[in-house]
Amino acid sequence: MLSTDFLGMKLKNPIIVAAGPWNRDGKALHRSIASGAGAVVTESIVSDTVLDVRPRIACDEMGVQNIRLYSDIQIEGWERELDIAKSDGGVVIASISAHTASELAYLASKMEKFGADAIELSVSNPMMESLEVVASHADVIYDMTKEVVSNVRIPVIVKLSQNTTNITKVAKAAKKAGASAVSAINTVRGILGVDLETAQPALSTYGGISGPYIRPMGLASVAAIAQSVDIPICGIGGVDSAKHALEYIMLGASAVQVGTAVMTQGHGAIGTIVEELENWLDAHGLASVEQVRGKALANMKSFDEMKIEPAVSTVQSVPCTENCDKCLTSCIYGAISRSETSVNVDEQACTGCGLCTFICPAKKLKLAW
Ligand SMILES: Cc1cc2nc3c(=O)[nH]c(=O)nc-3n(C[C@H](O)[C@H](O)[C@H](O)COP(=O)(O)O)c2cc1C
Ligand code: SF4
Ligand code: SF4
Repeated sequence: MLSTDFLGMKLKNPIIVAAGPWNRDGKALHRSIASGAGAVVTESIVSDTVLDVRPRIACDEMGVQNIRLYSDIQIEGWERELDIAKSDGGVVIASISAHTASELAYLASKMEKFGADAIELSVSNPMMESLEVVASHADVIYDMTKEVVSNVRIPVIVKLSQNTTNITKVAKAAKKAGASAVSAINTVRGILGVDLETAQPALSTYGGISGPYIRPMGLASVAAIAQSVDIPICGIGGVDSAKHALEYIMLGASAVQVGTAVMTQGHGAIGTIVEELENWLDAHGLASVEQVRGKALANMKSFDEMKIEPAVSTVQSVPCTENCDKCLTSCIYGAISRSETSVNVDEQACTGCGLCTFICPAKKLKLAW
């Protein structure tokens, strides 16, 4: 039911474990495959390995900031690591990163020779002081992708960033250069927070934010690419349940990558997402994820197409959540009041903004046209 063809690769399901230290070597990749993933992406491989900074990963209840950088295994060592990773089968995508097109092509052809099933170009890392990601520049992405594509026979995926003014322009450049797919998004540049007593930022330099914080940005990026470029998309960012995976798929993704959830919840998160996905399809009488791909895209409108006729919030008969006054405090138009027995909406004051329908935990408020 979940098996899917992604760029000619047969995946047993569309859930891929993203590039990161949880996939840092053959053993770790093997573990991700054994946890039920449809495919795995290696931590990004570079030609000049550098020592890791410490500390490099911070987290709070919403997500993670990292300044992890790259794999510390030399390119030649990856022949052995890929053998270990694939010892019981499985699809392995090699993530590579470099500053020049020729260096990327060199790494890609090495990884193809070692048995990688596809290449992912990690050109969207938001770290380092330049505060600029390579994937901001469509022309550079075009040159890099073209060089890699002309040096390997396996599919090439270009991993894009939200830290750019126009992600669709970069996706178009990747397609024009011959990329088989794009993946979106990498981490988003940020600072997780500051300790007020010590004036210490979470980590002492800018890093990449991942996890639930960035899911809305990932979803928007995937939708924007799907609306404007005819290329398979792998959705990434904040996926930790089948619901999130399906959101990406409904907005046009062909497969989905999971990173932070594997780190914070363990490898068991993969099996859980896969199982939930299967159950959801089953419960909805669907035979495959292809049947829901792009379904939500069809409901996306431009501002010009959105309704402007009057709509007001109406109160449904379900009981209020106990000790709740969320709608009363959050209605910035002062349209909601409460009597002893009920919540009331003043139809004249209600401007139909819709906020109360989202904020009400009991789903007691509904927008009526
Ligand atoms: C600790 C850490 C290390 C990462 N390392 C890499 C990497 O080596 N290459 C890469 O392309 N992305 C890397 N990423 C980004 C992830 O692959 C993914 O794009 C991002 O975390 C968003 O997905 P998530 O919210 O599911 O984690 C890393 C992310 C984290 C949290
Ligand atoms: S729709 Fe907006 S304006 Fe109307 S009651 Fe709800 S929060 Fe207030
Ligand atoms: S209508 Fe919803 S948000 Fe408002 S008080 Fe009742 S439960 Fe809370």
